[in-house]
Amino acid sequence: MKKFLKWTGIVLLCLVGLVAVFAIYVNLRFDADYSKTYTGFEPENLDLSADSSVLALGERLTYIKGCRDCHGKKLEGRDFINTPDLGLVMTTNLTGRGAKADWKPSDWVLALKHGVDQDHKPLFIMPAHETALLSKKDMTALVSYLNQLPLSGEIVAREVEVTFLTKALSVFDKLPAFNTQRIDHQASLKTNVTESVTPSYGAYLAVSCIGCHRPDFKGGGPIAPGFPDVPGITSAGNVGKWTFEQFKSTLRYGKTPEGRILDPANMPWPMAAAMTDLELEALYVYFRSI
Ligand code: HEC
Ligand code: HEC
Repeated sequence: MKKFLKWTGIVLLCLVGLVAVFAIYVNLRFDADYSKTYTGFEPENLDLSADSSVLALGERLTYIKGCRDCHGKKLEGRDFINTPDLGLVMTTNLTGRGAKADWKPSDWVLALKHGVDQDHKPLFIMPAHETALLSKKDMTALVSYLNQLPLSGEIVAREVEVTFLTKALSVFDKLPAFNTQRIDHQASLKTNVTESVTPSYGAYLAVSCIGCHRPDFKGGGPIAPGFPDVPGITSAGNVGKWTFEQFKSTLRYGKTPEGRILDPANMPWPMAAAMTDLELEALYVYFRSI
């Protein structure tokens, strides 16, 4: 009996030890990833414009690229994550920045092309690995638009106060937390994007779909606990059976030809609804080519 108790005690102690090591590892890794400084690059120079067509393109990009899904309907910043399980992640207020002059045009490029703040520290969750792939034309339009926005709401300090669960999910890459690591900081903004109904233009636009539909667009499991499975959108899936009109109406109105209603909370089709017919057709041609 005594021996049994001794061994149970040793096993329990080992388990407690393992849990402690795991907790220390997660905390250290998280802090190291979030406090890393990224250097060795210069933000590219953009020629900002006040031209109304440039500003209109920039505004449309804030819908298509999901900025408003995370940063709030008026881009005023909000508690993007705020649950007892995950903790609090505030998104930045993107309005009033140019007028207040606290951000230079190069600061926008630091965030959108390099995924870092003015101190070259990484932004948490911000999908900068996607915005980094914007063309120079689109990046210029986006920044020109954002930089002239009048203030909505108020500008508050950054706040990322996450739980151990969120830290563990981030460290083990189950949450797209440290996207800055995925960016090629030496690459310049693309200048060779041709806007036409071609698979290559479709592939350029489809960058916004990768986060959920996966890099090969074959879909997979839920992107976070509580979300549905993500279907494939290549020629092997339903998209391979749909006409262009059916594809277009699915993304414009959130209802598939099979009659399934797509909940915007799971599949953010309003971002695609803001695309032009040409953009949707390029996407269609691309998905059917793979
Ligand atoms: C999935 C949600 C999400 C999307 C989509 C998103 N952002 Fe963010 N963004 C964040 C979060 C979260 C932060 C705050 C990160 C932090 O404080 O570490 C942030 C921070 C920023 C910053 C702050 C930079 C700084 O120096 O503090 C800028 C600029 C920005 N985002 C612009 C954009 C633009 C423009 C878009 C659309 C093209 C966009 N974001 C799309 C989540 C998102
Ligand atoms: C935030 C995650 C997310 C993003 C980003 C996203 N999707 Fe989806 N998409 C989903 C989910 C989840 C479903 C399945 C919804 C359901 O079953 O109700 C879906 C369904 C679809 C469907 C219907 C497929 C079918 O077989 O019925 C199409 C088409 C589609 N997405 C296209 C796109 C395109 C194009 C983009 C990029 C412009 C995109 N999605 C971006 C999550 C996403």
